[in-house]
Amino acid sequence: MKLWSGRFSKDTDKLTNDFNSSISFDYRLYKFDILGSIAHAKMLGKCNIISSKDSEKIIAGLNEILIGIENETIEFDSDAEDIHMFIESLLISKIGEAGKKLHTGRSRNDQVALDTRMYVKDEINKINELVVELRKTIVTLADQHTESFMSGYTHLQKAQPTTLAHHLMAYYEMFKRDNNRLDDIYKRTDSMPLGSGAMATTTYKIDRQMVCDLLEFSSLTENSMDSVSDRDYVLELLFAISLIMMHLSRLSEEIILWTTKEFSYIELDDAFSTGSSIMPQKKNPDIAELVRGKTGRVYGNLITMLSIMKALPMAYNKDMQEDKPALFDSIDNVKISLSVFTKMLETSTFNKENLLNNALSGFTNATDLADYLVKKGIPFRTSHEITGKIVAYCILENKTIEQLSLLKLQKFSDKIKNDVYEAISIETCVNNRDVVGGPARIAVSSHIKKAKDQLNS
Ligand code: ARG
Repeated sequence: MKLWSGRFSKDTDKLTNDFNSSISFDYRLYKFDILGSIAHAKMLGKCNIISSKDSEKIIAGLNEILIGIENETIEFDSDAEDIHMFIESLLISKIGEAGKKLHTGRSRNDQVALDTRMYVKDEINKINELVVELRKTIVTLADQHTESFMSGYTHLQKAQPTTLAHHLMAYYEMFKRDNNRLDDIYKRTDSMPLGSGAMATTTYKIDRQMVCDLLEFSSLTENSMDSVSDRDYVLELLFAISLIMMHLSRLSEEIILWTTKEFSYIELDDAFSTGSSIMPQKKNPDIAELVRGKTGRVYGNLITMLSIMKALPMAYNKDMQEDKPALFDSIDNVKISLSVFTKMLETSTFNKENLLNNALSGFTNATDLADYLVKKGIPFRTSHEITGKIVAYCILENKTIEQLSLLKLQKFSDKIKNDVYEAISIETCVNNRDVVGGPARIAVSSHIKKAKDQLNS
């Protein structure tokens, strides 16, 4: 029997019951639902809204239910309307009359808002840890590759030389922002909504601050209508997860390219790649591809939630129950993606020789030749033009710039001297770019040091 069946003269239609029920997914909130109810019951007792004896009975009953669910002696009833009704009904069947007093001064509307906020806070912490692990892996790899020269790209065309460390540390920055963003979202999620009731609080003299302190929230929500109709924290987390996935997806795309025969920059560990059912020679970067694919799915969840919320009138509406499948799916996918991706990255081997060889073709040192001429007194636009002509000549002759003799080079500009070869060598191109944020070993090493300090604090 439904706990709200008083005004009804018929049972709920079976299909309607299934349609309405959310326990198949919101069972995941059980722990927070119980902890929230325990805090609520303590407060009701302390404020003499229920007797302290009833309060104690309720708390003992809820603790037993928590243990029962955790050791799997209690199973979720798939016919229950939702996790909140399931636990309350169970409590009543366990402890009788006292159990019927738990819901005093409370609504499922503020209850689900509380549970979801507690759940989101907990998951933010878990995702944060996984992002930190990935950042550590990136820093460790970068540290090994401050002298691994490679070509940088713009428009996926060879641009200028850099190092693998510099390239990887770009991702470090992205994931650092992801951690910061999650911390920021945590602060806004950390407001306690219970006491908002269905939408207009309650006439009982409740103590919201006590519940807030018991559940370790940092503040109270300030408007009861907003409290029960707000899902910004769900949306913000869905967005933060979308960005994490987008960052993972970009690195995945590069890894997919880098494992091709054409690039051959990277060899994935056998344990983190897969074969083909037909082509015996294949070793595929499935993890990276799946991460890239799941990114689309996670974006979908964000759009789902934005669409659910876009025209909801004040205050709670049942539409909002649809927040959870989207939220849970994104959380599951970002966590598994981060975990597997980090292991894959950690165990992959980079081929320094191929990285270097690829940087030696494609005139990645052309900017440096132009800059060399500027340092010899030629205006940049003119040196750009001269260098362009040298590149065009090299293309015709199928040579690199440094393969041209000094005599040949001087045909383009008599300012070119023997020191040009040193000036346009890949080591110089990289290590002279020692500006903050640049690829020089000294610059990247100081970035790496800073990163290590951040990760240790
Ligand atoms: N299962 C509901 C949800 O997730 C709980 C709140 C239901 N409130 C209500 N008045 N029907 O949103």
